[in-house]
Amino acid sequence: MSTATAVSRTVSATQRVASWLKHLGISEYAFDDTISLVNPLLTVHRLHAQVIAKVQETPSACTLVLQAGPAFAGLTPGQYVMVGVSINGTRCRRAYSPRSVNGSADRFAITVQRQAHGKVSNHIHDRIKVGDVIEIEQSAGEFTLPTPAPSQVLMMAGGSGITPIMSMIEHLKRTQSSTRITLVYFARSEADRIFAESLSRLAKEWPQLNYQPVVSEAFTGDQTVPQPALSQTLLDDRMPGWRGVSSYCCGPAPLMDAARAIWQEAGLTAHLKLEAFAPNRPTGDANARHQIRIQRGEQAMAFDAPGNQTLLESGEKAGHALKHGCRQGICHECTCRLNSGSIKDLTTGEQIDGNGQTVRLCVTTALSDLDMQALS
Ligand SMILES: Cc1cc2nc3c(=O)[nH]c(=O)nc-3n(C[C@H](O)[C@H](O)[C@H](O)COP(=O)(O)OP(=O)(O)OC[C@H]3O[C@@H](n4cnc5c(N)ncnc54)[C@H](O)[C@@H]3O)c2cc1C
Ligand code: FES
Repeated sequence: MSTATAVSRTVSATQRVASWLKHLGISEYAFDDTISLVNPLLTVHRLHAQVIAKVQETPSACTLVLQAGPAFAGLTPGQYVMVGVSINGTRCRRAYSPRSVNGSADRFAITVQRQAHGKVSNHIHDRIKVGDVIEIEQSAGEFTLPTPAPSQVLMMAGGSGITPIMSMIEHLKRTQSSTRITLVYFARSEADRIFAESLSRLAKEWPQLNYQPVVSEAFTGDQTVPQPALSQTLLDDRMPGWRGVSSYCCGPAPLMDAARAIWQEAGLTAHLKLEAFAPNRPTGDANARHQIRIQRGEQAMAFDAPGNQTLLESGEKAGHALKHGCRQGICHECTCRLNSGSIKDLTTGEQIDGNGQTVRLCVTTALSDLDMQALS
């Protein structure tokens, strides 16, 4: 019997046992908790992965190579995986963009950039070590290539935004795709450029990759000066003909805003796919005091929210334990129904006037007093 057949039989046997136990009133999570005492990689609902290598990529970015259990269903290049770690007894989840290791379905790498004061990124850098087991979820996300892949693509990355794009490039190379790729990759300096060596090597041996590294900051004397960012002129220079190809962009907010504006002006928004790692920060009036009321079952929570905080932040600052998971608009655990009042959705910039719509507290800021109902 092949290893793949043995693995798939183990998974289906484990899933069958979990489903029988569910019939007997024993929850699937209780089953997972029990089996994880034997081997955490064998869980079927709350998935785990073991760190099998840790590599420092740049002074502020490290890669974890992870071995997932057989119930992990694999990934499409460009997707994200939610990773959960326990920090001081609190379970924290964040999204990271995995790259398959040699096309394997259950072995992948995530590369994590330290964020100033960031809870999870610094924990991964400072505390997670080879041999540790962390929680993962099945991969998800729409930032992926179509099938079949287009004949030509333009990819734009800034900083750690290279991770989903690298996953797609490695996949195209591995599958011997005929797609021609132009990669415009912004980094503050060569030392900060994640995968710099691998990309240079790949571009030398694979003529289909037109690699265009751009340094986005320069030191002149004791000053740091921003260099020309993404613009039509830069694109015309690095990839004449960019208007006719499918384009992908992932990076910090100014890069994404520039891409959005360029493609909008060219009337080509349908050709551009964007992936944001962090929603825009709220920029409303810090002195505003909108009165927020959230009903959860019998419990009513009331707090004030200024215009420069998300509703999740304001509620927590007022001492309420608001249900949440990822804090970045992905898991929907903070979803509430907006019965009345107006909010701004930070992921789209849209204003929503309450009429029973669902909104996520972690990516929402108040524009008026609000009446809401928690949904989970
Ligand atoms: C779909 C998706 C894929 C992602 N893939 C990756 C990846 O492959 N590699 C990676 O390093 N990160 C990735 N991220 C970002 C990651 O999920 C976390 O947001 C990041 O690691 C920061 O988490 P933290 O707990 O350290 O910071 P938090 O404690 O959540 O935040 C601390 C502070 O840092 C700011 N901040 C948080 N994230 C960013 C950011 N990206 N840029 C600028 N400021 C930020 C916050 O606004 C806050 O002020 C991805 C995010 C998404 C939504
Ligand atoms: S906490 Fe995950 S969507 Fe808000």
